[in-house]
Amino acid sequence: MVNKYKKEKFHFDISLSILNHLGRNLYRSFATVLGEAISNSWDADATNVYIYVDKDNNSMYIKDDGHGMTGRDFQDRFLKIGYSKRKECSVSPQRNRPFIGRKGIGKLALLSCAKRITILSKTPGGQYVGGTIDNSGLDLAIAEDLTPVDYPLEELNPDLFKNYLKNHKQGTLIYFEAFNEGIKHSLAFLKKTIALYFRFSLLDKKFNIFLNDEKITVSCLDDLAMNTEFLWNLNNIDDPYIQRLKSVFTIKESTDLRVKDSVKGFIASVIKPRYLKITTTDERVGVDLFVNGRLRLHFLKKCPFFPN
Ligand SMILES: Nc1ncnc2c1ncn2[C@@H]1O[C@H](COP(=O)(O)OP(=O)(O)O)[C@@H](O)[C@H]1O
Ligand SMILES: [Mg+2]
Repeated sequence: MVNKYKKEKFHFDISLSILNHLGRNLYRSFATVLGEAISNSWDADATNVYIYVDKDNNSMYIKDDGHGMTGRDFQDRFLKIGYSKRKECSVSPQRNRPFIGRKGIGKLALLSCAKRITILSKTPGGQYVGGTIDNSGLDLAIAEDLTPVDYPLEELNPDLFKNYLKNHKQGTLIYFEAFNEGIKHSLAFLKKTIALYFRFSLLDKKFNIFLNDEKITVSCLDDLAMNTEFLWNLNNIDDPYIQRLKSVFTIKESTDLRVKDSVKGFIASVIKPRYLKITTTDERVGVDLFVNGRLRLHFLKKCPFFPN
């Protein structure tokens, strides 16, 4: 029996090394990192995402005009590992977009892919806030077993963004300096890969993605469209990619696939499995499965149904 009990509150404490256990050091392709950043812009109700890749300098800027972050958002959301957007709601506040992000761990890929990453953000009418993550400093802090409060982010140098702030009223900018693995892919590859990842948004006029000032459009997927042979439209889905397929390419549409009314979508097939490989990229077309408006399965690489 414990008869003397000192009431005291205890809480978990976490060493920064948890970041490594959670996969900070895992290799992620450049395209995956881009995908995380663009997904965040989509979730932030951005209309435009501008990506500027500078292969010679091994650096990249990403700028969006979404709702941006206050200092508090930056601290409590952006820098919080495991923050769950879903707790509040499952669609974005202004445009009711189904959130792509879910677990608050997308940042691990974003923040560890380059030597230094600087974030600058502003809500409408607010002031810019942000900071710099220097991964060599963070590595040291991890080796010394520091806790997150013992390792504040570096103050950012606003000059880094001076060429990118014209007419920027709100949104988030991220500057990546010195990618760990360099930027190996061509811009053509990146355009197609982004088009494939964000196929669902390509004809949405309220979401535009630009790579070095060129808009990424559904025509980036024309290689795939050209090789599409059959199309099964499930319950007459109104999909921009299908509209483009039908208006520009010759495909055979089949109506003999009956599914429940609540299932909507399309299945398309190509003449040969190798046509699923998007020319000049390593990516293969796979299956996007949305359940209740949320992207639940985004199956691209090494699709087991179509082995090489
Ligand atoms: N471009 C952005 N604009 C506004 N807020 C952002 C942006 N990127 C990230 N955030 C904020 O940081 C949070 C964490 O992002 P992330 O680690 O990718 O996790 P998730 O997307 O799963 O929520 C987001 O939920 C959002 O609140
Ligand atoms: Mg995210």
